[in-house]
Amino acid sequence: MKKKLRKIWKWIDDRGGVTEALKPLLKHPVPPGTGWNYVWGSATLFCFIIQVITGIALAFMFQPSVDSAYQSLQYIEHKAFLGHFIRGLHNWGASGMVVLIGIHMIRVYLNAVYKYPREMNWLTGVVLFGTTITLAFTGQLMRWDSNGVWTAILAAEQMGRIPIIGDYIAYFFLGGTTLGGETFNRFFSLHVFVLPGIIAMLIVVHLYLVIRNGISEPPKAGRLVDPKTYRDWYENLLKEKGVPFFPDVMWRDVVFSFGLFIVLAGLAIWMGAPELSDPPDPTILEVEPHPDWYFEWIYATFATMNRNLEPYYLFFAPLIVAVVLLSVPFLWNKGERSPKRRPWAVGIVVFMSVAIISLTILGLRAPWVPKYDADPLVYTSIPGNSEKAAKGVEVMNKMKCLYCHKIGKHGGQSGPELKNVQNRMTRSQLIIRIVNGTDDMPGFGGSLKSDELDALVEYLMVKNKEKGLLPPPPKKKEIIKKQTHD
Ligand code: HEC
Repeated sequence: MKKKLRKIWKWIDDRGGVTEALKPLLKHPVPPGTGWNYVWGSATLFCFIIQVITGIALAFMFQPSVDSAYQSLQYIEHKAFLGHFIRGLHNWGASGMVVLIGIHMIRVYLNAVYKYPREMNWLTGVVLFGTTITLAFTGQLMRWDSNGVWTAILAAEQMGRIPIIGDYIAYFFLGGTTLGGETFNRFFSLHVFVLPGIIAMLIVVHLYLVIRNGISEPPKAGRLVDPKTYRDWYENLLKEKGVPFFPDVMWRDVVFSFGLFIVLAGLAIWMGAPELSDPPDPTILEVEPHPDWYFEWIYATFATMNRNLEPYYLFFAPLIVAVVLLSVPFLWNKGERSPKRRPWAVGIVVFMSVAIISLTILGLRAPWVPKYDADPLVYTSIPGNSEKAAKGVEVMNKMKCLYCHKIGKHGGQSGPELKNVQNRMTRSQLIIRIVNGTDDMPGFGGSLKSDELDALVEYLMVKNKEKGLLPPPPKKKEIIKKQTHD
């Protein structure tokens, strides 16, 4: 048996030249001292392979059309053999790929690997990064649930607001003037054919460049890159101290990817992919679209910025980021590589990381979104000893003021906290505000009877003057049902 197999292998190897092709790749010498910090790139590639395999598996069952995408995903999730696991793995693999490509980029930037002669490695890497982000973005839409669809609508609306070319971009993006079947087909083709194809080709180029220019040596403070002498110096380093890629270096990539797979598989089994939100329904306006978590920080920047700036930001921010990233290797292609002597580089990375992490946390909490499940106010004794104030509490609950306003522990945060509002507003100011509303708050003049308004204001004025007026935490959770505005 063994002999036979060996014979078959010999046949293949003789005709196909497998050893001849692979041996130099595996055995090529690598500078000494590359450690665990060099695994991020191969781990990203590993995630991409997981995505291709799980993606093909999903595509076997997924029905790419507006009418049936949602149902077919329900089927995959709840009925199909291994469906939950594969969908989960595809979801977490995407998170893994985005995170790892980010870490890989940070590591490469901190070690200034983009300097001579590896400028093209960096450039192809930047394009890979952009394509990966776009791939992840189009992936969310494949769910075709209300989250996915509303995210797409918001993005398209923003693009439509870009001056002059906005309409054309939105048209291309949507495959028409409205979001519909054409949009979905467009995103599906991008997500399963175009973008993975581009990524696969770019990976080939990227890896070819890694082999051609060699894996970078770990930087040392004071050892400068000089394009005139670098190649000779590097050749010499390899000749004197190089170690073979396989097995001396590659074992770390394999071990890390193996560990990564265990983690991703665990997440896929126990956390799964996000529950599908409701199927998209254009008559429900009150969904709060949330993008996948790695886009939350972008969502947070939008939510906190001036509305009129949004389309410009959407258009120019990625453009500026792309231009900056692509010019890095041309602006600084020689000199110091060690992060110890490049405080600015370290500063930029720290600043960006802190900003992105805080914005992500902000985006996940989304204090600007009304809290549709806010607990209603309850009280044990009559507030302010007055029946009128007690009625005011009921009006507060009826009018859902707590969707946007906090009182004590209750309520959302998209409007100001009303706990001490009696200290900063007079009775008549309160009435005017509640009746007229503002840009960001609906006016209640039309929906409140005058005795209700009276009671409401009475409650807002007297609460807090006496102990025990602030409502105690509710005993039995009585949740205001999510309702739709009309
Ligand atoms: C959709 C969200 C929303 C709802 C519902 C809402 N508000 Fe507001 N409210 C806001 C926002 C946002 C502001 C801040 C507006 C501004 O400053 O322009 C505000 C401001 C106020 C203010 C002024 C507070 C201050 O410190 O300036 C009062 C008082 C107020 N709301 C009372 C109410 C009452 C009473 C209700 C229920 C009848 C209510 N609001 C319902 C969003 C809301």
